[in-house]
Amino acid sequence: MRTNQPQTIYLSEYKVPAYLVDHVDLRFELFEDGARVHSTLSVRRNPESAEAGAPLFLHGDSLKLESVALNGSVLAAGDFEDRGDALIVPSVPEQFELQVVTWIEPQNNTRLEGLYKSSGMFCTQCEAEGFRCITFYPDRPDVMARFRTRIEADKGAYPVLLSNGNSVAQGELENGRHFVTWEDPFPKPAYLFALVAGDLVEKKNTFTTCSGRNIDLRMYVEPRNAQKCDFAMDALKRSMRWDEDVYGREYDLDIFMIVAVDDFNMGAMENKGLNIFNSSCVLASQDTATDATFQRIEAIVAHEYFHNWSGNRVTCRDWFQLSLKEGFTVFRDSQFSADMGSPTVKRIEDVTLLRTAQFAEDAGPMAHPVRPASYMEISNFYTLTIYEKGAEVVRMIHNLLGDELFRKGSDLYFERHDGQAVTTDDFVKAMEDASGRDLSQFRLWYEQAGTPVVSVEDDYDADKGVYGLTIRQNIPDTPGQTGKKPQHIPFAMGLLDSKGQPLPLNISAGEQDGPLERVLELTEAEHRFEFHGLAERPVPSLLRDFSAPVRVQYPWSREQLLFLMSHDPDGFNRWDAGQRLAVDVIQSLVGTPEQAEVEPRLADAYRKLLNDASLDQALVAKMLLLPSEAYLVELAEQADVPAIHAARERVLKHLAQELKDDLLACYQRNREQGDYQLGPDAIARRSLCNTALGWLMSIDDERARELALEQFRSADNMTDRLGALRALVNSGFAADREQALESFYQRFSDDPQVVELWFSVQASSGQAGQLPHILQLLEHPAFDWKNPNKVRSVVGVFAGQNLAAFHNPDGSGYQFLAGQVCRLDDSNPQIASRLVTPLTRWRKFAPAYSSQMKAALEGIRDKDNLSRDLYEVVHKSLA
Ligand code: ARG
Ligand code: ZN
Repeated sequence: MRTNQPQTIYLSEYKVPAYLVDHVDLRFELFEDGARVHSTLSVRRNPESAEAGAPLFLHGDSLKLESVALNGSVLAAGDFEDRGDALIVPSVPEQFELQVVTWIEPQNNTRLEGLYKSSGMFCTQCEAEGFRCITFYPDRPDVMARFRTRIEADKGAYPVLLSNGNSVAQGELENGRHFVTWEDPFPKPAYLFALVAGDLVEKKNTFTTCSGRNIDLRMYVEPRNAQKCDFAMDALKRSMRWDEDVYGREYDLDIFMIVAVDDFNMGAMENKGLNIFNSSCVLASQDTATDATFQRIEAIVAHEYFHNWSGNRVTCRDWFQLSLKEGFTVFRDSQFSADMGSPTVKRIEDVTLLRTAQFAEDAGPMAHPVRPASYMEISNFYTLTIYEKGAEVVRMIHNLLGDELFRKGSDLYFERHDGQAVTTDDFVKAMEDASGRDLSQFRLWYEQAGTPVVSVEDDYDADKGVYGLTIRQNIPDTPGQTGKKPQHIPFAMGLLDSKGQPLPLNISAGEQDGPLERVLELTEAEHRFEFHGLAERPVPSLLRDFSAPVRVQYPWSREQLLFLMSHDPDGFNRWDAGQRLAVDVIQSLVGTPEQAEVEPRLADAYRKLLNDASLDQALVAKMLLLPSEAYLVELAEQADVPAIHAARERVLKHLAQELKDDLLACYQRNREQGDYQLGPDAIARRSLCNTALGWLMSIDDERARELALEQFRSADNMTDRLGALRALVNSGFAADREQALESFYQRFSDDPQVVELWFSVQASSGQAGQLPHILQLLEHPAFDWKNPNKVRSVVGVFAGQNLAAFHNPDGSGYQFLAGQVCRLDDSNPQIASRLVTPLTRWRKFAPAYSSQMKAALEGIRDKDNLSRDLYEVVHKSLA
């Protein structure tokens, strides 16, 4: 091991900043060979800090310092220390101005943190710690300052110059250069700073707020993308209205800007007044974006907009509090998406992600609480736990308090903490104070890592008519945390009679008309609940709407699951019963001979779904999706991926064979007639068609082949075109596959977002996505190592979604991934550290696999100059 061990940062060592910054004056001189950054900080000692006379400490990273001056006098070399990762001035007055000039090289910045170039434009990403790559600064979120930013650049190449707030001055300079000055009246932490300079077209719109103020809305994109802005602009307006209606939050600046950039490590960023998006999360047209993309764009536009209150007006005290803004904002955007479409479908999608990926994280070597206690590299903590589990925790508070008290709590939170940098505890306190509820035990959700296991046993006393539930909770050990305390779990449930009618839940012998649904509050390791007045043994419907992020264990029989699939009044649980049944059927086939019978009632149940037009078609479309391989792996003790893959394929082909005619009929019935629509019904219809097509193509059905070719040729939207392409690519019709891939590429080769889809269809395909073909894709002219979307769409999709190919018993998939991770670590550590995730789960797999995965990880560990990002993940995974 040749890397020095990076430092661990602990929450318990938090100290208030010794110095505060009231104002920041920035001047950027942008050139092709670099940029000069002039910064003037108005600094004063923090009266709340105990460290009187402490040195001034400013963070820095990859900066070339040109000069430092204090109150106008240039400091001599002995008066400060330039440590590379910091600038330290040992002796400073109580209050002063510090002027720092640095030189940076955005054109060589491949990490995409700080100021960098993406297809010819300058842009920034400062969260979490990117601002220190621009200039020396106390780069921590509890230092909040007003920013004034002047940008100077060549006018021909960079006619558009943007930063946070309002533009207050602009003008011409010598040599064809120009400048624009921006002023942001709201104090903010440096992570919310943004700058953009480029040759961009401007899309204009306006929004009138609830108090009647007119806000200018602007999107800035490269000219070739001018036609792909309308959907995001509308989504923005819907978000602004929704946040007023549901949370009483009005927008605060006079202008709100969105910029699309092609090279971006994450999805998007909520910089004050100037949101910057990964192109793939904001640009869309009917021709180029799938339904899933449209939905993702709507959710992300809303997410970033909602951050203006939950994140910017009230921000995080330190990065351990990241979920304060992310968990709450994901909860808000999921409520918004539920309101815009089908709440049940949105819930199914969120829970699928949570159970597949967050539960796996919680069970893996990087498991951490929603509020972590330590980290080495904060970029590694932009996780499913912080985001999705954090959102589930807020959702539980919402469920415990109810709509009205939750709104009272959020109002109090925003009012009490406006303009402050606060903690998750402050959030919970506001909810407590507004509602009068005691959430002290509930706070354990923020402190304890791991997914609680809730096991349920039931009994029935026919003589007394009493049905009993014994419910136990247990939270598994996670790295560094053992012997956990029971958590406060809201457990929604109901009971059904044998006809499928909901039964009143009478919890005492005298009660008569109990409610049809109850939220049991689990606070102890074990509880017993009794339900009275029941003439027959009921069927329990447990954890309705997934009321808490836990694993439920109950010995469901297949009869019970089939029954719940068609009778549970809770749509989520109907879907969940179907998933559990399919999981049970697939699991029971793992490792059995090819001829073993597939549970015939599964096909019967799906036939019913396919043919009952009275059912909610959006729900049916979801119910027909078999559990993914990733989910099956997550559920397994010692996963044998090829065996799981084979069992799932057998079930899929069995269903396709048994349901041939029903699938064809479903396809014909739902095939789009008339104009393209983007509502939930049309989306459900396309999903049903593409599922039917995919199943039929898995058994190389000739009629399906013709339908797929026809759909591919005549589709008027990307969902259908890609659905047909995917079906062809995953079929045995090799010649059709090649032809379709070729013609698709020819048609869309100049559209990077579509090319990413084209890459990922191949990289995820059991037929087309074997390693030799993946290596060819990496040589394709459209592939670009510097573009994170391209890397994700080939390498990330192969390792994360093409499980059978990645887990090739010869270990070639693991060696491949390790090699790519090492190569990427030198240019973009954040991407390298994300991409390595599948290998970190090595303990999850059968020995023949896990030993090779571990060896691949050890290879990465021994690389020279391991980044801090990768160091943390690899070392923790091997520990
Ligand atoms: N705050 C952004 C969002 O969730 C994500 C920024 C993540 N940046 C990072 N370097 N990890 O909306
Ligand atoms: Zn966010």
